[in-house]
Amino acid sequence: MPTPDFVSAASIEPTAPVSASPEPQLRMAQLRTLLQHHGHQYYVLDAPEVPDAVYDQCFQELQALEAAHPQWRTPDSPTQRVGGKPLDAFASVRHAVPMLSIRTETDTESSGALAFDTRVRKELELTEEAPPVEYVTELKFDGLAINLRYEAGVLVQATTRGDGEYGEDVTQNIRTVGQIPLKLIAAKPSDLPEVLEVRGEVYMRRDDFEALNERQRARIARGDKGEKTFVNPRNAAAGAVRQLDPAIAAERPLSFFAYGVGEVRGSLAASTHMELLLALKAWGFPVAELTGTALGAEGLVAFHQRIGALRDQLPFDIDGVVYKVNTLALQQRLGFVSREPRWAVAHKYPAQEQLTTVLAIEVQVGRTGKLTPVAKLAPVFVGGVTVTNATLHNEDEARRKDVRVGDTVIVRRAGDVIPEVVGVVPESLASASRGDIFTMPRTCPVCASAAVREEGEADYRCTGGLFCSAQRKQAILHFAQRRAVEVEGLGEKLVDQLVDAGLIRTLPDLYRLGFTALATLDRMADKSAQNIVDALEKSKETTLPRFLFGLGIRHVGEATAKALARHFGQIDAIMDASEEQLLAVNDVGPTVALSIRTFFDQSHNREVVEQLRACGIHWSALEASSDAPKPLAGLTFVITGTLPTLGRDAAKDLIESAGGKVSGSVSKKTSYVLAGTEAGSKLDKARELGVAVIDEAALRQMLENTP
Ligand code: IVH
Repeated sequence: MPTPDFVSAASIEPTAPVSASPEPQLRMAQLRTLLQHHGHQYYVLDAPEVPDAVYDQCFQELQALEAAHPQWRTPDSPTQRVGGKPLDAFASVRHAVPMLSIRTETDTESSGALAFDTRVRKELELTEEAPPVEYVTELKFDGLAINLRYEAGVLVQATTRGDGEYGEDVTQNIRTVGQIPLKLIAAKPSDLPEVLEVRGEVYMRRDDFEALNERQRARIARGDKGEKTFVNPRNAAAGAVRQLDPAIAAERPLSFFAYGVGEVRGSLAASTHMELLLALKAWGFPVAELTGTALGAEGLVAFHQRIGALRDQLPFDIDGVVYKVNTLALQQRLGFVSREPRWAVAHKYPAQEQLTTVLAIEVQVGRTGKLTPVAKLAPVFVGGVTVTNATLHNEDEARRKDVRVGDTVIVRRAGDVIPEVVGVVPESLASASRGDIFTMPRTCPVCASAAVREEGEADYRCTGGLFCSAQRKQAILHFAQRRAVEVEGLGEKLVDQLVDAGLIRTLPDLYRLGFTALATLDRMADKSAQNIVDALEKSKETTLPRFLFGLGIRHVGEATAKALARHFGQIDAIMDASEEQLLAVNDVGPTVALSIRTFFDQSHNREVVEQLRACGIHWSALEASSDAPKPLAGLTFVITGTLPTLGRDAAKDLIESAGGKVSGSVSKKTSYVLAGTEAGSKLDKARELGVAVIDEAALRQMLENTP
């Protein structure tokens, strides 16, 4: 008979009734193994093999047995993840092997990688002819370092890095992290080192962070005392790990990636860092899928660039990449300098967050009258550009973040996303001499019409409509943009001048502007005026979707405009369509249908369409094609991993608008798995079932094959 703790999960019947088990002690061991296996499938591999209900049933069975036989309850039992009492303080623990930090290469250009490779080659006394050094390339996770100590395969202690020599004992909290094994996976105990310290990063995924803040906001709104939102995932993760009450820590969704080891006693057969990572993976630890190997400086540069391009689409924050010499013997030869290994370096990316001061809070009026509070900032270089404005979204957000003039704030700019104020630094929040709390003005700052906030809406809107010059300007810019009818050269400054001078009130006025009117404007040369006249003329030949989108109907974006055009074929049919008829269009829901109907119920909007047509705007007629075949009709897709350019929602929209379906799990019925990087278990499942796997480029090609 196998020792109770090492029965294989495959041989256990999950739902066998308790009475069917000969021995409660054996059954308890079976259940622990089973729950450990399914927990690993669920948390680490993201590939559950049984429905949640089966897991829960086993869990409850084990809980009942442990209550009846507490003497056989073990610390590695999955029931023991949460259970400790709140602490007064964390105990200080001396690390068996110091937790060192790594040298940071702050040169964010490729030269940073070259410099590291050059240093390594020099230290190893390699000649120019010697082959390139092999490196492991990892992500630099933005969380906090943790040391996990396993004795005889069981987690006995988890410590923070602290000062590198002494850390804090945070075992209770770390036990609540589903991705961290309480017990290592092994076929037999002799396969495991007697002591194994695993080092890695505890972090919070971006979606988990958003959801946590969402819950926190609801609690604050309910009036719960002492609750707050978190400024970024790293902060939230650090707060959770250093939380004295493990029950609260358990509510904070943490994740983990392993990247190294501390003390190891006993067998760990590895001669390279990569082998070591693979051993950790086999024992049940998550190792990031983007981890790889690279040859020489060239390989490092390629990795740095590839990850740089993927950075914003990863499900978690990173602040750089890490290069490590792969061969452990070479690592040893390189050794350490001032408590940093010579064989590893962190190569950063430009910071996406910076501190700056709020100079003022202004309110901007958008195209649909939406009032947006905007923080005017002391210029700061972040995410590769100088930022002077950052949106505060709406009144609730501005108040929730409690941003006030004079505060020091964290500004974030990730990718091409609009810069945003993440939060106020604690020192400013605590200051006695702060500015006033932000309140939204009750009148439009541009036209003084009433500003109202409708039931259930977060935004205030100016009720001035096209009477409001700010809305008029935005409406014109929207119509003239490249994605609409495109009037080249008609930018913000010119529109400001034209509207302020009273030359344009409505869209058709644009086409009544002659050369003379344009040429008399300040700083307008004859040639520029003629260019605008030509551009206006050119814009008259357009398409129905561009024209429709350009009208600026609320909720009608480019995709909806295309769908409407395809469905109805002509503008008059759309203007006259009932809400019901509009609802028949793919992707048009009640809100959009109502918005379109309301727009065309207003005679001045119909008038605008008529006048634009009278001015010569035209497009070639489209066949109404509500029942035209769609390229992806009848196909089911599963999206997994990070796609090179499309976000998940965008990919889903694209597929659905082409008639395809998107499902969450891979089965035999799946037509294609659309896979990006960091694609995990769904990709494995697809391969197992022989489902075709495509990338983003292939999807785009399928979409282009429109009949
Ligand atoms: S290796 C001796 N690898 O960066 C080498 N560290 O100073 C020890 N970090 O706070 C660290 N991702 O928590 C290593 N892939 C990675 C990492 C990583 C993030 C953090 C680590 C520590 C700092 C290193």
